[in-house]
Amino acid sequence: MSFTLLSSPLQGFTEFRFRNAVHKYFGGIDTFYAPYIRFNNKPEISSKYQRDLQLENNIVPELIPQVMTNSADEFIIAVKYIRSLGYKELNWNLGCPYPMVTKKGMGSGLICEPSKIDEILDRVHTETDVIVSMKMRMGYLEPTEILDTFPILEKYPIKSIAIHARIGKQLYKGGVDLESFQRCLDTSKHKLYYNGDITTVAGFRKMQEQFPTIDTGC
Ligand SMILES: Cc1cc2nc3c(=O)[nH]c(=O)nc-3n(C[C@H](O)[C@H](O)[C@H](O)COP(=O)(O)O)c2cc1C
Repeated sequence: MSFTLLSSPLQGFTEFRFRNAVHKYFGGIDTFYAPYIRFNNKPEISSKYQRDLQLENNIVPELIPQVMTNSADEFIIAVKYIRSLGYKELNWNLGCPYPMVTKKGMGSGLICEPSKIDEILDRVHTETDVIVSMKMRMGYLEPTEILDTFPILEKYPIKSIAIHARIGKQLYKGGVDLESFQRCLDTSKHKLYYNGDITTVAGFRKMQEQFPTIDTGC
């Protein structure tokens, strides 16, 4: 069975030097996601993110930038920047679990606010031509929170949604919740990718058997 393997981003680890080295010495990853761009109350892309995304620093076949924000204005600044470099797609992070992020209503702390998600996606799709994809957890407090976002997300041409099968309050502890992930598959009309706890080839194959409709893992 053919499948697509995506490299999920890790802020502080999977920056351009790491991605280039993985590609050069190991290969096998179809698409790399860059760690999220974050705005710290300044309406500009910091030089750290610029260096990470500049085309001349990247040798991987496909790189998709990511943004973490709960502001349409910031989202649009990020779109303009990545479009100026030639990227077509921007991945939106609704997965980050860290309290300093979620308390501000960003990352997985935004999943419980479907109307805000709607407002941001509406402006991004009205004001730009970017292709939006998403990275989500299943909620912050409960794995059912994501279900209320699906009818909103269906209004937009979201390319794909990678779901990290945990909730925010777990941080990175505890196992993945495959039953709730299956409920997402049964409910969402979007193309879903599976993410979380893929640590061995055998484990990857087990996931393939359990979720045969998914052809992409990260
Ligand atoms: C230190 C650290 C930084 C991360 N940074 C990002 C990030 O920038 N963007 C993102 O979408 N996910 C980020 N993640 C989440 C991972 O991409 C991944 O979804 C998560 O680790 C689940 O996969 P695992 O169970 O294989 O670790 C980060 C995780 C860690 C531990």
